Amino acid sequence: MSSLLKISDLHVSVADTPILRGVNMEIRQGEIHALMGPNGSGKSTLAYALAGHPHYAVTDGSIEVDGVNVTELAPDDRARMGLFLAFQYPVVIPGVKVADFIRHAISNVRNPDRKEGEGLIPMREYRKEIRARMDELNMDPEFARRYLNDGFSGGEKKRMEILQMAMLRPKFAVLDETDSGLDSDAVRVVSEGLAKLSGPDMGVLIITHHERLLEFNPPQYTHVMLGGRIVETGDAELAHDLHANGYAAIRERHPDAAADNTIAEEAATV
Ligand SMILES: Nc1ncnc2c1ncn2[C@@H]1O[C@H](COP(=O)(O)OP(=O)(O)OP(=O)(O)O)[C@@H](O)[C@H]1O
Ligand SMILES: [Mg+2]
Repeated sequence: MSSLLKISDLHVSVADTPILRGVNMEIRQGEIHALMGPNGSGKSTLAYALAGHPHYAVTDGSIEVDGVNVTELAPDDRARMGLFLAFQYPVVIPGVKVADFIRHAISNVRNPDRKEGEGLIPMREYRKEIRARMDELNMDPEFARRYLNDGFSGGEKKRMEILQMAMLRPKFAVLDETDSGLDSDAVRVVSEGLAKLSGPDMGVLIITHHERLLEFNPPQYTHVMLGGRIVETGDAELAHDLHANGYAAIRERHPDAAADNTIAEEAATV
């Protein structure tokens, strides 16, 4: 049986302002979903709510993995349930190398009861594993010795994201890829990495406007978010159409959601 990530009637507020107004989505292992929508529609809010970011309060509805409600779980516990969230803005952790960071992350997921300082994946085994994954992804082994996110280029941040995914092998991966600031190297790293990693064991939600990313990873489902809800769901054709023609027709078909979105956009530009 494949796993199911089920988002039901999800309402999320940020600083007491309602942002998501009843989002429904079902992602099965092995499926690729694209989430599109104009600025301020709530796409990143959905990603943060899935991650369990403390500023994003779930006020109604649920997020379930195989019937288990994870809405109250800490981010670490969600990772153990097989959720992986790539963040738009990764943090710099001084003095921690890429390889050490990933070793801790996979040890946490694989040995849930481990205490700090114990239960790490043995070094020899770990080295073998990370080398094999980096080899498959054509990554320079030197990259694992870099300090985490310290002076990383856009492409290197994406290498980190993809390598983490390759090592964690999540059931569900959510990638929030901003349009601004992604150079062509970064887009290539994500497109190719994702194409290599996705398969029957992973469900993917890609938040992006990048045509290239979706070309390499054609979504079976494209969801359009407007004013904090999913207003339309289609296939890869819908993603193409939105790239070519923008959101004017969507706004016309969903005037209430469009009005909410306009309020959000105005609030964001104040
Ligand atoms: N931390 C926050 N504090 C205040 N308002 C927020 C916060 N995060 C999101 N919002 C508001 O929530 C709304 C949705 O924002 P969100 O970032 O989810 O949109 P988005 O669809 O990801 O947009 P973009 O395409 O620009 O990335 C906006 O009105 C935004 O101002
Ligand atoms: Mg966003």
